Amino acid sequence: MSAPTDKLFTYTEGYFITKSLLALWRLGLLGGADARIDPGKSAAGLGCDARLLRATLDYLVIRGIFVKDGDAYRYSEHGRELAPYYGYLPMHIGAYEPVFGQYEQVLHGDLVYGANLKRAEHELVGGMSAMEEHLLARLNTLMDEIAFTGVLDLGCGSGRMLAQVLRRSPRLRGVGVDQAQEACEKARQNLADEGLAGRTTILYGDAGRLHELPAGVLAQVDLVIAMFVMHEIHWQRSRAGVVSCLRDIAGVIGSGGRFLMVEVSRIAAGGARPGLRFVPEYQLVHEYSNQRLAGEQEWREMLAEAGLTVLRTEPAGMCEAFCFVVGVRE
Ligand SMILES: C[S@@+](CC[C@H](N)C(=O)[O-])C[C@H]1O[C@@H](n2cnc3c(N)ncnc32)[C@H](O)[C@@H]1O
Repeated sequence: MSAPTDKLFTYTEGYFITKSLLALWRLGLLGGADARIDPGKSAAGLGCDARLLRATLDYLVIRGIFVKDGDAYRYSEHGRELAPYYGYLPMHIGAYEPVFGQYEQVLHGDLVYGANLKRAEHELVGGMSAMEEHLLARLNTLMDEIAFTGVLDLGCGSGRMLAQVLRRSPRLRGVGVDQAQEACEKARQNLADEGLAGRTTILYGDAGRLHELPAGVLAQVDLVIAMFVMHEIHWQRSRAGVVSCLRDIAGVIGSGGRFLMVEVSRIAAGGARPGLRFVPEYQLVHEYSNQRLAGEQEWREMLAEAGLTVLRTEPAGMCEAFCFVVGVRE
C-alpha cells in the first residue's frame, strides 16, 4: 500500500503531465505517431524558449511519453499508443480552463458562466475534431445500415463529422446547425477545403428550435445526427424543451428516417463503477458550463414522449458514450 503522499502526488503528476501535453498540443508539436521534435528548431520556429521546451520534453521522457533520439525527441511506445487521443486534452481540459483556472471566483459567483465567463470554443472545436475521427468509425458502420440522402448535423461544431458523412457518396446533401459563430465559420471552411461546400448548408441557429430555421432547408433530410449536443439543449431549454426539440426531429425525419444521438450517460451520486475514467470529470465540467447530462434511461423516456423509439444502442467508442439509433414510433 503506497503512502498517502504518493497517492496525493498521483494527482499532481496527472496535472503536470496534462498541462505539459496540452502546451505541446497547442504549439502543434503533438503530431501523428511518428512525431519527432527537435527542440532547437521547433523553439526557433515557434518563438519559444528552447531551454524551457527541452525541460518539458525531458520531463515527459521521465514520465514515459517521449524518448530521446539524439538531440530530438520521439514518442515512446506508450506515447505513440496515446497519439491518436491527444486531441481529447483541449476538448476535455483546455476548453474549460477559463472556468477551472478561476474556480474560486466561479464558486463565489464573481464569474458566472454565460454572463461574464465562457469556455474556449476554439479548443473545443479543435479537440472535438480529433475525437470525431474515433467516433466516426463506429458511426460509419452504423450508417452502412441506414438508407439516407440528406443529413442534418445538430451542433455541427467544426463540420468534420458532416464532411465525413458526405464523403460516403456524392449524392448526399448536408445541413449543419450551430449556435456558435466560430463553429459555423470553421465548419464552412472545413467543408470548403474538402470541396463539399456545394452540397452543404451551414446555418447559424438554434438546434433546439428547428421549426424556426428557414423554410425548406430541411426538406431533404432523412437522417439527423446529434453528437454531444442534446445535453446542451437540455440545460438551455430544460426537459420540456428537449422533448419539443425531439418532436421537431421526428417531424424532420418522418417514418423511415433515422436519428443518431450520441451522449454520455449521467452518473448518479455514488453510481460510478470503480476505475471509471473520464465520465465523472466530464460531468463536473458540464455542471460548471451550463450543460445538463441525463441518464440513458431518461433520454429513452424523453424520446418516447416525442413519439420516437430507440431501435438500437451501441457503445460510441469513447469511454461511456453511447449511440442511440432512433426511429419514429409507428
Ligand atoms: C460538444 S460540441 C459537439 C460538436 C460536434 N457535434 C462534435 O461532436 O464534434 C457542442 C456543439 O453544439 C453547439 N450547440 C450547443 N447548443 C446548441 C444549440 N442550441 N443549437 C445549435 N448548436 C448548439 C455548440 O456551439 C458546439 O459547437
